[in-house]
Parts: sequence; structure tokens; C-alpha cells
Amino acid sequence: MTSIKGEEPKTQASGQHKEVNHKSLLQSDALYQYILETSVYPREHECLKELRDITAKHPWNLLAVSADEGQFLNLLVKLINAKNTLEIGVFTGYSLLATALALPEDGKILALDVNRADYELGLPVIEKAGVAHKIDFREGPALPVLDQLLTDEKNKGAFDFIFVDADKDNYLNYHRRAIELVKVGGLIGYDNTLWNGSVADPPELPQLDYIKYYRGFVLELNKALALDSRIEICQLPIGDGITLCRRII
Ligand SMILES: C[S@@+](CC[C@H](N)C(=O)[O-])C[C@H]1O[C@@H](n2cnc3c(N)ncnc32)[C@H](O)[C@@H]1O
Repeated sequence: MTSIKGEEPKTQASGQHKEVNHKSLLQSDALYQYILETSVYPREHECLKELRDITAKHPWNLLAVSADEGQFLNLLVKLINAKNTLEIGVFTGYSLLATALALPEDGKILALDVNRADYELGLPVIEKAGVAHKIDFREGPALPVLDQLLTDEKNKGAFDFIFVDADKDNYLNYHRRAIELVKVGGLIGYDNTLWNGSVADPPELPQLDYIKYYRGFVLELNKALALDSRIEICQLPIGDGITLCRRII
């Protein structure tokens, strides 16, 4: 339901007036389900669906980007004609496959994760999709790899798109390096910038331990991105929030 200034939105079921002070369209789980069933699942590549089903059986399945975010990333990569990309935080590979499917045949993704075992759960599906040749997976902490890349001048400004979906306490460290690795005019996407909605909660509100622990880092990142004059930004309420940063200098 859209909340447009001057209009009073009603809840669909009861017809009662609801207090709405924002313009987000998503005001119910049913509406989100509607998006998935109308626009996302019918267009989801069969291998992405297979990978989503495999990931659903993983105890940490919530780590994967949602199908609507995967669809968004896929379109975004095509829109910017990305060819050379970097992903930090692969897990079983849903965002990786969504990106790989969008890249041209000679496109490349450098994919970094500390855990190869999870990546290997999804790898047979990535191979089946015919895009494994685009992926250079490296196991280990991402920061040293980024530092290593930056020792070679030819990697500076070499990436069209960088997607960051890993350890939130390092996001600012990733940003310091990603801004040098992405080309001017290229995009960096930071995932989970709404951090389960907790960014807008009063600090005293009880939170799950991991939400509480990383909340401060996400708040700090959001402030830093908003102040960073090297980028233009747009924070979108897709999935758990994704902030797109376009490097301008
Ligand atoms: C939220 S998951 C990524 C989800 C993935 N983008 C997807 O769509 O399925 C975060 C991943 O970051 C990885 N990770 C955590 N710390 C890391 C680090 N320091 N360097 C590289 N990867 C890391 C974890 O192993 C985990 O697989």
C-alpha cells in the first residue's frame, strides 16, 4: 500500500486507518509475498531456484540474499554493463549466481569467502548453469586479498561492480579498499544496511545478540557513506537494505 502525502492509507483487511509516516510500499508480509509470486519466482532462472532450494536446507539459510534481491542484482549488473566484478561474502552462491548469469560470456567475478564448503554446496548448480568459468573463488579472509590487489596499479579502478555481503564489522575497512578498486562511474553495493530494521530502533530495545553486536558497525557505515563525497548513494529497502554507491571521483 502506498502512503502518499495528504492521503490516509487504510489497511486492506479491516479498512481501518493506519499510522504511516513513510512512503515504503511494503506494509505487510502478504504484499512481499505478492511481489515474490507475481514478479520474482515466475522469472527466476531454474538454477537459481535449485540453488535456493539447496540453501533452504542449510541451518544458516537466512544468510543468502532473497530472491527479489537476486533479481535486482541481476538487472543492475546488466544495466551498468558490468564485466569485471568482485563479491565479498559468497555463502552458497545465490548472489554470485545471480551476478554470473547477468555477466557477458567473458565477464569475471572475483569471489571471496572464508568458507569454501558452503560455496561447494552451490557449485554444482553454478556449473549446471554454465557460468562457473566466470568465477574465480578464493577461500580466506577478504581484507588481505583486497590489500594484495591494491599493490598492483592495474587493479585500481578495475572493477565495474563490487558487492559486499560479509562481516559487518569490516564494512568500513572494505569501503576504504573498494573505493580504490571500483572504477569511477562504477558501483559498490553494501548489503544489510538496515540490519533487520534495528538501525531505527531505540538502542535500549532488546535485540538478538548478533543483531546487537553488529548494529553499531552498520550505523557507523551508514553515516560514513552519507558523508563520503567520493560517492553518490542510494539506500534501498530491498532484502535487509542495500546501499548503492556510485564512485564519482
Ligand atoms: C551473508 S553471507 C553471504 C550471502 C551470499 N551473498 C548469498 O547470497 O548467499 C556472509 C558470508 O561472508 C563470509 N565471511 C565472513 N567473514 C568473512 C571475511 N572476513 N572474509 C570473507 N568472507 C567472510 C561468511 O563465510 C558468509 O559466507
